[in-house]
Amino acid sequence: MKSTLNSRREWFKKSALAVGALAFTPKEVWSAAVDEAQFKNHKFLNNAYNSDFKEYTPPKFPDLSTVKARLVWNENPYGPSPKAAEAFQKAVFEGNHYSWSTLGKLVDKLAKKEGVSPENIMMGPGSSDLLEKTAMVYFKNGGNVISADPSYMSLVAVAKACGGAWKPVKLTKDYQHDLDAMEAAIDANTKLIYITNPNNPTATITDTKKLYDFCDRVSDNVPIFIDEAYMDLTDNGLADSMAPLVAKGKNVFVARTFSKIHGMAGIRVGYMLGNKDALKAINEVTRGGMGITGPSIAAASASLDDETFLESCKTKIAEARQFTFDLLDKKNIPYMPSQTNFVLFPIAMDGNEFLEKIYDKKIVVRVFKFWDQTWCRVSMGTMKEMKYFADALNEIIA
Ligand SMILES: Cc1ncc(COP(=O)(O)O)c(C=O)c1O
Repeated sequence: MKSTLNSRREWFKKSALAVGALAFTPKEVWSAAVDEAQFKNHKFLNNAYNSDFKEYTPPKFPDLSTVKARLVWNENPYGPSPKAAEAFQKAVFEGNHYSWSTLGKLVDKLAKKEGVSPENIMMGPGSSDLLEKTAMVYFKNGGNVISADPSYMSLVAVAKACGGAWKPVKLTKDYQHDLDAMEAAIDANTKLIYITNPNNPTATITDTKKLYDFCDRVSDNVPIFIDEAYMDLTDNGLADSMAPLVAKGKNVFVARTFSKIHGMAGIRVGYMLGNKDALKAINEVTRGGMGITGPSIAAASASLDDETFLESCKTKIAEARQFTFDLLDKKNIPYMPSQTNFVLFPIAMDGNEFLEKIYDKKIVVRVFKFWDQTWCRVSMGTMKEMKYFADALNEIIA
């Protein structure tokens, strides 16, 4: 961890974000969440990422066709693999058929890769779909979900919309999941623990051994959902995955997506591994896989085979990350110790003012506010995009 960031711990200590249970019906909560998410000037929905979400009303978003650096949604600028694109195009001509048989083949391929049986896999059009379906099934009769604050909020938002409650647990001082505090937060109504590793928006990872031991033990009482959307991009890659716990029969879910290292965010494929009875219970209500198109399935299968492409994405993203670290070091700006395709750093400026300035330079990034601090999250783009970002940052923050 950067020592400069350590010195700013006072900022973090100041925060004690208390999130009370919402005294609204699920419908009211949901419509309020949609109102909040549908930013005045945005044409798209956005998820709450943290408990300060209500304060965040960003300035007008630039027309994406005019931007010089698209560093806002943790996309992979190099994807999809040309082989995946070709497979997608070919499969369009089979579009009159339902895709169950090709989906089954993809599941078999993934089961082999993950060391689980096909019954341990549920597919979805992106992993958000699976996070949301899990939340719908687990929280349809209320209960609470424990997750880090800040973290990715798709699952939590739907759990709350269904009538569940969120029990947020602050990250530790070194930005890992506070596993002890999460365990202590379990009560009779806890239905699920959700852990994003690496975490979004902090980009930080939680110690593998500690997490493994925690999941191995605690999942005997409460199911644990590990969202590994960014795991392939870390130094150790999938060696740090919790997937072996699924193979061991534990009540653990592991979600993965083709949106990040595979560069297929717009093609929409994700999957989760889980205990077969747990997946059956979710499938009975929601049907996994139905929302994925045949061309998307073909593209995912081809992308899995294109190891050279995946490796080159990882290398280039790591280069962009190092470039960003060097830039921030030069500017004496601390940053979170990212191992993935985005970097989070504090900005000593109002978030909207920063966005207005950077949007003006045709660069799109995200801004967050938590722990009494405003943060910029910059996704790793091409080196050309990163240089535009560096120029902009040098002008905005002297
Ligand atoms: C932690 C995390 N999980 C899941 C997702 C959802 O990805 P997708 O629905 O594209 O698979 C994202 C997207 O950014 C993410 O950051």
